Amino acid sequence: MKTTLIAVALSLASAASCAASGEDTYKAVCANCHATGLAGSPKIGSTKEWGKLIKGGQVSLTADGYNGVRGMPARGGRAELTIAEFGSAVAYMANQAGANWAEPDDAMLKKINARLDKRNAVKK
Ligand code: HEC
Repeated sequence: MKTTLIAVALSLASAASCAASGEDTYKAVCANCHATGLAGSPKIGSTKEWGKLIKGGQVSLTADGYNGVRGMPARGGRAELTIAEFGSAVAYMANQAGANWAEPDDAMLKKINARLDKRNAVKK
């Protein structure tokens, strides 16, 4: 019984430390530019700047940002970010500008992956 409890506690602790929340990733990585609109980046909380992007949809916006677009470095310049982590940060920022996006689930991650595959194929 005691062993089971310890095992549960350990697995909860490791799950929490593995997956950074969208807000954490935003603060650690994205805020470097998006907090102030540095280099022409859409500023956090600006419904004007995010409105059009949000209309483009969560799948394409996440895929394009992850891949990099103009002044936006791929993965925000943090090569180790997974698509899920990056996607959570995108959802967090979009929601600060009035969207109601959920964390990307498996079905959405599949679509984002498919879009990335397509883009890479075109680039080659
Ligand atoms: C070094 C500065 C920098 C960092 C760090 C950065 N961004 Fe950006 N981001 C930009 C710039 C500049 C643009 C505007 C690109 C353009 O349209 O020219 C942008 C645009 C975007 C867009 C819109 C893409 C589109 O399709 O127009 C998304 C989404 C985005 N960033 C997400 C993120 C996320 C999530 C992070 C953190 C993981 C992040 N960015 C970190 C500079 C940055």
